[in-house]
Order: sequence, then C-alpha cells, then structure tokens
Amino acid sequence: MTSLPHGGVLINRQHFDKDVSHLNREIAIDRVALSDLELIANGTYSPLTGFLDEENYRSVVEDMHLKNGLAWTIPITLPVSEKTADRVSVGETVKLVYEGDVYGTLEVTSKFRPDKLHEAEKVYLTTDQAHPGVKRLYERGDVYLSGPVELIKRSRRPEEFADDFLDPAETRRLFDDRGWRTIVGFQTRNPIHRAHEHIQKTALETVDGLFINPLVGETKKDDIPADIRMRSYHVLIEHYYVKERTALAVFPAAMRYAGPREAVFHAICRKNFGCTHFIVGRDHAGVKDYYGPYDAQKIFSNFTRQALDIQTMFFENSYYCKKCGAMVSNKTCPHDPSFHVSLSGTKVRHMLRDGVRPPETFSRPEVVQVLIDGLKAKQETHSAG
Ligand code: ADX
Repeated sequence: MTSLPHGGVLINRQHFDKDVSHLNREIAIDRVALSDLELIANGTYSPLTGFLDEENYRSVVEDMHLKNGLAWTIPITLPVSEKTADRVSVGETVKLVYEGDVYGTLEVTSKFRPDKLHEAEKVYLTTDQAHPGVKRLYERGDVYLSGPVELIKRSRRPEEFADDFLDPAETRRLFDDRGWRTIVGFQTRNPIHRAHEHIQKTALETVDGLFINPLVGETKKDDIPADIRMRSYHVLIEHYYVKERTALAVFPAAMRYAGPREAVFHAICRKNFGCTHFIVGRDHAGVKDYYGPYDAQKIFSNFTRQALDIQTMFFENSYYCKKCGAMVSNKTCPHDPSFHVSLSGTKVRHMLRDGVRPPETFSRPEVVQVLIDGLKAKQETHSAG
C-alpha cells in the first residue's frame, strides 16, 4: 500500500499515437520543457495537468502553493520567445516539437510575461547568473505559455539504461508486488559514495524498501554524465545492497539546483512514485555556497505533515572516521576532525577525471572503477571527435 499521489489522483495524460495531423501550429520546445511535458503526462508531477497559468505561477512563486492550496514549490512553466508567443493565440491547441519530432500538444489557455528577477529571487534565493538554475531561467524564453498538455510520444531513452525508466504507476505496482508498505526515496545527481550509502542504509533500517531514484535529466556540464552514473549504481547494488530491499529507476527531470525549494519538489515527486519517506541530507539540491547546509531540511517546517504526506528523513553531514572505523556524523562521532575523511564533490570529480582513485573510505572501489573507465572513454571519444 503506497501513499496517495499528491492531490489524491495519479495524473495520466499519455495518449500515445494520437493523431494530431489536423493541428497546424508547431512550437519548438527545449529539452527541459520536453522532460517537464513527459513528467506532467506520466503523473510524476501530479496534480499538474499542464504548464502553470499566471495565477498558479504567482501563487507558487510567492508562497509555495498552487491556487487550490496544495503545496508546490517549483514553477513548471513553458517559456517561449516573444516571436513564438505572438504567433500563438489563446484557445488554440499547438503541437510541441523537439528537434523536428512532435511529442505532445498544449491547449493554450493563456500567455504571460514573468518577472524573471523576482522568480530567481524567490525560487533560487539569488539573482546571480552564475547560479546554474538562474542562468537557465534567464536564458529561456521571455513569455510563458500555459495550459493542459498531452504526451503523444516518449522521448528516446538512452539505450544503455532504457530499462531503468519506470512511470509512477509502474513503481507503485513494483512496490506493491514486493509487499513494501514503507518505502524511502533517495534523490541524487551524483555517483553514490559511502556517505550516500550510509544514509540510505540507515534509513532502510526503519522501512521496508529503498528506492534509489537518480536524476538523469539536464544537469550542469561538470556533473558526471547519467550513463556512467547508471552503470555505477548497478555495480554498487550488485555488490553491496540487498536486492529484495532495493529498487532503482531514473528520475528524468532537469536539475534546478534550487536547494530548499527543490528538496520539497523532489519529495512530492517521490510521493507520486509511491514513496512514503524521503531522504534529505546535507545541502540537498544545492550548488556552491548559495544555500546553508541544512536549509533544504529547514524549509519543510513551512509545511504540515498532512500537507506533504510524505515523511522526511533528515541526515547530518556523514563521513568516514578512521578512529571509529565507520561512517559517522557529528551526532555520532566524538573524535577530532583530523580522523575524518572529507573530500569535496569537486575534488573527487577532478580526481576521477585524472584517473586518481579516491580512498575506499570515500567510495566503493567497484564504483570508482566504473567512473574512471567511463570518464576516460568519454574523454577519448571527445578528443577523437
Ligand atoms: S543532490 O543535488 O542530488 O541533492 P547529491 O547527489 O550530492 O546532490 O545528494 C543526494 C542526497 O544525499 C541529498 O539528500 C543530499 O542532501 C545527501 N547527501 C549528499 N552528501 C551527503 C553527506 N556527505 N552527508 C549527508 N548527506 C549527504
């Protein structure tokens, strides 16, 4: 028995192979909009049925709720250029096209011009264009189209991990089939290191199943590519996890790097996948120093337990202590920091790109091997191309 979706009903707006040849107008969308379209349509973003209209947009930006009172923290919008917006009339249904292929339709109910600086300030807590989420916000179109969508075709799934795509209806079935009543969801955009493994397994001690749900949509250039990460997750599970207690499927959303607000959004999406619990650790969905290490936990105090209806599991910064001989946090380890293995994500990425192995106290050797091999192969393809 998984929890109810956000708003009570799992949205399904997938109408594959629907004939749309009678529609004349085409709107070109970017990869982020394409992933949002798919995630609205398959219910990951329930209760959304389309891109936000102005009232809902304002309500989400201003106070983290939809107009109907449901918690919602990230504005899901369809930005287009001024020129494109001028060609579209309110009331018409348009085809949504990515790189020449039609993926869906939008019934245009309104168009409006957002105040992007204000959106950045409220959602990302900064207007700095060096922030990758803010940068993307500024780069996208200046007019937002809104209205209900339908998905008529799925985007191409990378061959290497095509089997790791599951719609919320499918993950819910999977959890039920396994007899899990309590499921903890884990978001990541990184390879799983020992700290991640530690918090996942600590959480799993108190629930029936662990759902590893790595984000594989758009990330910043220096994050490890999704195909290499997926290989590393499989290898890790193979060697270190109890398979009957672990499920893996991708979260094909774009990373916003919106820290606290994105943590709430991530929790809601995982509820839609059927999770009853959700892990929020240190600096969840953060980037550089834009957010305090526990801001993404603190934001949840703005919502009642009933409003989100998913139990958060908060974790302190975890690391290996050589004196304890174990993964610990400041809550559990009394020793001097000189005993602690702490490496920044950036440092580790550089080590891996240079073929240098981080210690076993930081990352499992099988994972390190996959990452080094994968990054090396990419570099070679890149320099050959
Ligand atoms: S995220 O952008 O997807 O949140 P990341 O993959 O680093 O980044 O983190 C995945 C989850 O693990 C998040 O909930 C994050 O807070 C948590 N986390 C990452 N590293 C640590 C750590 N060393 N200690 C505790 N929690 C951590």
